[in-house]
Amino acid sequence: MNLTLKDEILKRFLSANGEPLSGQQLGEEFGISRTAIWKHMQTLQDEGYTFDTIKKKGYVLVATPDRVDPARISNYLATNRLGQSIHYFEDCTSTQTIGHELARNEAVDGTVIIAESQSKGKGRMARHWESTKGKGIWMTVIIRPNVLPHQAPQFTLVVAVAVVNAIKSLYKHIHPEIKWPNDILINGKKCTGILTEMIAEIDQVQALLIGIGINVNQQSSDFPEELQNTATSLSIEENESLDRAILIATILNYLEKYTDLYVQHGFSPIKILWEEASGTIGKRIRATTLREVIEGLAIGITEDGILEIQLDNGEIKRVYSADIEL
Ligand code: BTN
Repeated sequence: MNLTLKDEILKRFLSANGEPLSGQQLGEEFGISRTAIWKHMQTLQDEGYTFDTIKKKGYVLVATPDRVDPARISNYLATNRLGQSIHYFEDCTSTQTIGHELARNEAVDGTVIIAESQSKGKGRMARHWESTKGKGIWMTVIIRPNVLPHQAPQFTLVVAVAVVNAIKSLYKHIHPEIKWPNDILINGKKCTGILTEMIAEIDQVQALLIGIGINVNQQSSDFPEELQNTATSLSIEENESLDRAILIATILNYLEKYTDLYVQHGFSPIKILWEEASGTIGKRIRATTLREVIEGLAIGITEDGILEIQLDNGEIKRVYSADIEL
């Protein structure tokens, strides 16, 4: 994990679980002076961390700010690759844009770019993605699977399954559903969007840039007026404020597991998981593609992740990319 010394010290406090740590002990562990330890703790305090001093024993971390610090994320990670390198930004244009630069400059498989806010958040079909500061998860994961370019769209479905299962595992009142291909809805309102981009040669994927945007701690009034009827947040649905770092780590844990499953066994096991989590299959839908509007019953997805719609005359149409209305 590429943590800075400050983050390593924070991680040490997080894993101490309330036990006091002395400056001397930390100095010895990290091979630096007590004064240097104290300077890093001062920076952490400036960022909103609070330490109590226990006489003759040392310091205890008693409060953490609501930030998605790499050290806090890594404290909950159980991965070998995903999130082992994390680039954290208070503000940025778009984590996808940064992801492209890093991926072209040989970022390792599993590199994560995460920001508290984005000024130019990108949605699918070049739409704007609202990324309110400190309220959501705005991250890009760079993966370098050994797959062909035509397999890339299937990864979007892999990601959707990972996010849904992470949400279900953490929050008991939330019942998320995937709207094909990759929106995650709760009670019909969107809480998550996924944007998969690719850097590839004709016969080999160099990198996939998996952009994940999740509304976590917004209240309705935090959404711009035009989104108020169609967007929701996990906090609105669970009725409490949620820890974004835990959710990020849980998503990365599931995502590593499912990308490995996909690479080893192909799309079939993912298809089963996706269909279980889908709110589209079995419903009448309207799909607007670049060429036409198709209305009918969503009957399933193919082995390639393509949506199949049965028209009223019985004909089955395959849809590769579309906006879906349920
Ligand atoms: C959609 O249109 O539903 C996809 C939205 C994807 C948004 C995420 S937020 C993190 C990453 N950075 C971006 O600029 N976009 C993606």
